[in-house]
Amino acid sequence: MRRAVIIGTGSALPRRRVTNAELSKTVDTSDEWIVERTGIRARYIAGEGETTATLATEAARKAIEAAGIAPSDIGLIILATATPDQTFPASATIVQTALGIDDCVSFDLQAVCSGFLYALSVADSMLRGGTTKHALVIGAETFSRILDWEDRTTCVLFGDGAGAVVLKAEEGVRGVLSTRLHADGRHNQLLYVDGGPSTTQTVGKLRMKGQEVFRHAVTNLAQVLREVMEDAGLTVDDIDWVVPHQANRRILDATARKLGLAAERVIITVDQHANTSAASVPLALDTAVRDGRIKPGDLLVLEAMGGGFTWGAAAIRY
Ligand code: UT7
Repeated sequence: MRRAVIIGTGSALPRRRVTNAELSKTVDTSDEWIVERTGIRARYIAGEGETTATLATEAARKAIEAAGIAPSDIGLIILATATPDQTFPASATIVQTALGIDDCVSFDLQAVCSGFLYALSVADSMLRGGTTKHALVIGAETFSRILDWEDRTTCVLFGDGAGAVVLKAEEGVRGVLSTRLHADGRHNQLLYVDGGPSTTQTVGKLRMKGQEVFRHAVTNLAQVLREVMEDAGLTVDDIDWVVPHQANRRILDATARKLGLAAERVIITVDQHANTSAASVPLALDTAVRDGRIKPGDLLVLEAMGGGFTWGAAAIRY
């Protein structure tokens, strides 16, 4: 059976790390409130010269190096982002050029926090369909640039970063076993950006009704994880690691409880990275691969939920 196998991971963070204590000097908040309500202790904020495409390129380089292939072997780049460098062309083409790849399929995919899961699923289909042998799937964001820094209910929650994987089409038992994607556009006004080229001709700022998003997140994530495990013929006891979207520690705990998953099987990076939207799942994946927790052969489930609403999951034999 031809499958998309993860053969390399990489990630990148901006130079500047901002702790809750530092943030509380300019925002009416406290370390205690942020830690208690979210589990977040710090986030990274992009500075001069750092953009979604530069972070994506750095993560991609590391993933390609880990995969042991040449950039020219890549036939497909999908960059999941809601914060592209330009309205067009796709930031994926900026990454492509920075990597020195003259010709490949290259596009951005926009599903906000679920973007990496959407991109992984599309790349999996294209690899199994024979479009190419190697694909680069990246999640990269600079949400700090669409935050309203006067709104303490949102600005303390997000950070910038990038994560990437190299996928290879291979026969065998390893690779993406199943993916499930969902969207429900009726919830637009619970999590959105109040601007855009065709409406306000501005970039806009992020707006969120956090409590309502929280409620939907736990229900939707538990549902999609059940679906993806059932599709792959797995039960919770088979799962070595859950690699979740990192929005809030309380969402991760509640989802794990709902599914009967042991808390120590869940990879948690929200404390150090905050919510990096489409970057959060590949950033968490790369962190756990590089610190040795995730090993070849492990069974992983990845999940995410975000604006749209969109949500999705994947089961992977790493
Ligand atoms: O990635 C996309 C998916 N996004 C998510 O999954 C986010 C989901 N939502 C959440 O994570 C949580 O709902 C939040 C972290 C956003 C908020 O936590 P909460 O426990 O739902 O708090 P709340 O909104 O009910 O606010 C509680 C109180 C309010 O004060 P009053 O009205 O009780 O007096 C807020 O004004 O906390 C206040 N508050 C703050 N206080 C200090 C809100 N933000 C802050 C802040 N610092 N930064």
